[in-house]
Order: sequence, then C-alpha cells, then structure tokens
Amino acid sequence: MKQKQFETYTAEDTQRLGQKLALLLRPNDVITLSGDLGAGKTTFTKGIGTGLGVMRMINSPTFTIVKTYHGELPLYHIDAYRLEDSEEDIGFDEYFNGDGISVVEWPQFIESFLPDERLDFIFERKAGDKRLILCEPKGEFFEYVCEELAR
Ligand SMILES: Nc1ncnc2c1ncn2[C@@H]1O[C@H](COP(=O)(O)OP(=O)(O)O)[C@@H](O)[C@H]1O
Ligand SMILES: [Mg+2]
Repeated sequence: MKQKQFETYTAEDTQRLGQKLALLLRPNDVITLSGDLGAGKTTFTKGIGTGLGVMRMINSPTFTIVKTYHGELPLYHIDAYRLEDSEEDIGFDEYFNGDGISVVEWPQFIESFLPDERLDFIFERKAGDKRLILCEPKGEFFEYVCEELAR
C-alpha cells in the first residue's frame, strides 16, 4: 500500500485537492473520507463536485444519508453518520456499482458494505486551519490515483 500525505492550510486548498482528484476518477469508483467533525470531509467533497461539473451547492446531508448530484458523472454523497447504531444496508450496492462516483463520509459505520478496491482518505485537524490528509489506496488503480494526486 503506497500512502501519500497532503497538507492544506485553507478550505480552498482542500477543495482544490478534491477537484484534482475528481479528474482522475472513473465511473464506479468509491472514495471514503474519515476524520472528526469539522476536519474537512464535506469541503473536500465540494471540490470533487466542482471537478465533476456539479453546479448545485454540496452541503452536509444531515437528514438524508445519500444525496445524488449530477455532473459529468453522477456523484453519490453518502453520509453514514446516522447509521452508527444500525449499520443498516440501505442498498449501497446500487451506488457502489452504479455509474457514478461514491464519496462516503463516516465509512466505519458501513465497513462491511464497502468494496475492497477503493480510495480511503483520513483527515486530521492540526493547529489553526492546517489539515493533514492521508491518502490510502486499496488496489493498483488507486495507487496510481494517489501518485498522480501528489504530482
Ligand atoms: N485546511 C482546511 N481544509 C478544510 N476545511 C477547512 C480548512 N481550514 C478551515 N476549514 C474549515 O473547516 C470546516 C470543515 O467543515 P466540513 O468540511 O463540513 O468538515 P466535515 O465534513 O469533516 O465535518 C469548514 O468550515 C472549513 O471552512
Ligand atoms: Mg461532513
């Protein structure tokens, strides 16, 4: 597993990283975003949306678990936070095997439904606005994606 590490100092930097990532992805790809509240997961997702040409504003899907956005590819923004106690399958296959990009916040709550091949990001809050973003590829294609992202 070839990890890469990124540091950002503003929300815009984090969005730009997400935007760059979007251009490297293919239909069916699954991205997970871990890290505490306020770490920057949704900010990163906004960047992915921009990269995919989504025009609508992406926000935290507080009351819905999945929000679908339409860009060059569909973007499935999944927030599993509310599944913490149930780990319920709400038909994830349909998203993970659909023809869009799935971005999952709080993936630990739906671990057993996640595909083995995926790209995991771990967000850590540092002093001030600094964020440490670790890219952990699962599978060869995502190793390539991580490397390209770091170029
Ligand atoms: N370097 C940074 N990267 C991402 N967000 C940042 C950064 N610095 C400050 N922020 C702010 O931190 C907050 C992150 O919120 P959000 O992306 O919703 O986090 P999460 O989805 O992980 O709970 C936003 O208000 C954003 O403007
Ligand atoms: Mg969020």
